[in-house]
Amino acid sequence: MSTDRRKLDHIRICLSEEVEAGSSGFEDVVLIHSALPEVDLEKVELKTRFLGRRISMPVFIAAMTGGHEEARRINENLALAAQELGIPLGVGSQRAALEDKSLAETFAVARESAPEAFLIANLGAVQFAGGYTVREAERAIEMIQADAIALHLNALQEACQREGDTNFEGVLNGIAELCDALDVPVIVKETGAGIAAEEARQLQEAGVSAIDVGGLGGTSFALVESYRGGEPGRCFAAWGVPTAVSVVECASSVDVPVYATGGIRSGVDVAKAIALGASACGVALPLLREAARGSEAVLTWLRRLERELRVAAFLTGSRSVEELSRARVVVLGRTREWLEARGFVR
Ligand SMILES: Cc1cc2nc3c(=O)[nH]c(=O)nc-3n(C[C@H](O)[C@H](O)[C@H](O)COP(=O)(O)O)c2cc1C
Repeated sequence: MSTDRRKLDHIRICLSEEVEAGSSGFEDVVLIHSALPEVDLEKVELKTRFLGRRISMPVFIAAMTGGHEEARRINENLALAAQELGIPLGVGSQRAALEDKSLAETFAVARESAPEAFLIANLGAVQFAGGYTVREAERAIEMIQADAIALHLNALQEACQREGDTNFEGVLNGIAELCDALDVPVIVKETGAGIAAEEARQLQEAGVSAIDVGGLGGTSFALVESYRGGEPGRCFAAWGVPTAVSVVECASSVDVPVYATGGIRSGVDVAKAIALGASACGVALPLLREAARGSEAVLTWLRRLERELRVAAFLTGSRSVEELSRARVVVLGRTREWLEARGFVR
């Protein structure tokens, strides 16, 4: 099956089926309420920096799509919202457009509709374990005049796909070579199974500029592939490191920025992730659903999240994202047990 056809399947499944599984762990994270915030709600400053660029809030639209007419429209709607709000946007894997140049436009529309936004190119890290070279990464960056490139790690998804690329030997080396050769920052992201401390350290050593944990608790690609007949998808629907756990493991282990994606569904989730050590949070599935309706729907969803984040910051007595990162937080339940078992107690 061609790459663009598979990507279209993913969008249709995500728009029509239950594709979320597992728990992100944020339900176990409690921000301590401040009865005396000594902050003016409307003066809470949500602006922050993302790989050197000023953005309006610590939130980005995570990588999803491209490679088909339906995907073109979704990228356009996401990009219009990213431009309007001043937040970063990742496009989906650009592999299809490297294989068939006529598809490049379905990605380039992101730059046309968001001339000033921080745009993130996207390719699978496994492609650099022997097949692709620096040249393919440069073409993906050029295609959307990207400000950074994300290399996705998706071993679980590939293992649940009939046509999956399951030879991950040499992936870390491929990542290190790209970090060395490219002029733009390299973000490495998981796609729903999270990143543990040990791998985060290896990625930092390889030279990555940021790590997006892409944790368990939101979209499950094992589940998505199971709807396409992929085995053994269902059994692995809740496999992985929950997003909240992954943020603590990575942020305690590396100095590069850590982003939280995977099951971020509200501004309170964003506030919790930041208090646990994330620099910014990514959202995918809910925005795919809004983007299918139009750019106004994407804007409305993100403005609601922005308001929730502002109120959460206010209620913890935080005037800024920086102060929110130092907010009082307790971790309970299974997430605490997990962190204790791994030696990361907060
Ligand atoms: C329809 C869809 C397509 C996706 N395609 C990609 C992709 O091409 N590259 C990538 O790095 N991540 C991809 N992702 C993963 C997301 O970037 C994100 O890591 C994951 O969905 C978890 O976030 P969520 O729970 O908010 O959906 C995709 C997600 C969705 C929903």
